[in-house]
Amino acid sequence: MSFSIERVRADFPILSREVNGQPLAYLDSAASAQKPQAVIDAELDFYSHGYAAVHRGIHTLSAEATQLMENVRNQVSRFINARSPEEIVFVRGTTEGINLVANSWGRANIQRGDNIIISAMEHHANIVPWQILCEHTGATLRVIPLNQDGTLQLEVFPTLIDEHTKLLAITHVSNVLGTENPVQQMIATAHQAGVKVLVDGAQAIMHHAIDVQALDCDFYLFSGHKIYGPTGIGVLYAREEILQNMPPWEGGGSMIASVSLTEGTTYAAAPWRFEAGTPNTAGIIGLGAALRYVENLGLAEVGEYEQSLMHYAQQALKAVPDLTIYGPEQRLGVIAFNLGKHHAYDVGSFLDNYGIAVRTGHHCAMPLMAFYKVPAMCRASFAMYNTEEEVDRLVTGLQRIHRLLG
Ligand SMILES: Cc1ncc(COP(=O)(O)O)c(C=O)c1O
Repeated sequence: MSFSIERVRADFPILSREVNGQPLAYLDSAASAQKPQAVIDAELDFYSHGYAAVHRGIHTLSAEATQLMENVRNQVSRFINARSPEEIVFVRGTTEGINLVANSWGRANIQRGDNIIISAMEHHANIVPWQILCEHTGATLRVIPLNQDGTLQLEVFPTLIDEHTKLLAITHVSNVLGTENPVQQMIATAHQAGVKVLVDGAQAIMHHAIDVQALDCDFYLFSGHKIYGPTGIGVLYAREEILQNMPPWEGGGSMIASVSLTEGTTYAAAPWRFEAGTPNTAGIIGLGAALRYVENLGLAEVGEYEQSLMHYAQQALKAVPDLTIYGPEQRLGVIAFNLGKHHAYDVGSFLDNYGIAVRTGHHCAMPLMAFYKVPAMCRASFAMYNTEEEVDRLVTGLQRIHRLLG
């Protein structure tokens, strides 16, 4: 099926609304993507006709709901080419998944004197859990520095590894710069030294196919809401032999084999050992619908369309005076910028008046703001439903703000 932007836009009801009297130009999908009708319908249908608590019920509705949920686990496993659905843990999102790894695998495997390598472009979700783990264990963080163009100083990375390095935790794609890191190559380097690798895939999953076996990563994370699915649902992929040996991190219902007040508790096998409590079943079903939607369009076609839109945007933005763009020429999904000396909030507010939604602020990447010596940036992000016309409106809007504010 060939990619049709008109057909795709028609699938997203929110795109036909107005904001401040203007047609909405939604350029904030890297923060959270809009939802196609198929995802909205899947949740509505589940609540209307199929809803029940999963796992614990013998009755028909509960069995059906459990089947639907486990079907999505299978689907996710195929989507990222995991070896089996047992490598897929449902979590609230990337943030919760990283915290799960830090609290479970991290506390079992990292000790005083060990070190963890991250990079200077990480989202706070891939910094703070490791800082907390270091505080708890006495381990230390090492940071891969950046080049001015927003790429990693890759030559420095191997020099940070020593016999006490236990983990590399690295983003696949930067949420601010759009830099795609050569994770496959970095994973190979890390593995040669016996270092495990966690990849934060929050900004990669919607742009191109992910194959966790080809990458050979130990952990991979993504959030449903960034790939056109619901909020409150995400995925932790963990290599089966690692996951099976990880201790539980949250206790409660659904994650146990048996509980006794005298004998103690034995735990369920992975992945269920990591899914305590009643899950976000509607979210899981919505995620299944989102992955189906993207697969039906074809990730390759979507990626091609997005790349050509990105190329168009990079060229078009050259017509805006005094615009500083951060990050490398070769980028995925996002363009972060500042206009003259104006604060990103002012620029973002003006754009909002024109119906254009961009993100402003530190983008949960304060160390990156410090690197570029700015308090904030604006970020326009591009998804499969954005158009060249919206890019033109962004350019015109910025030119207008430049004329107004000087
Ligand atoms: C690179 C990256 N990592 C992690 C996260 C956190 O994702 P979530 O808030 O869905 O847990 C984000 C969200 O913006 C992100 O862009």
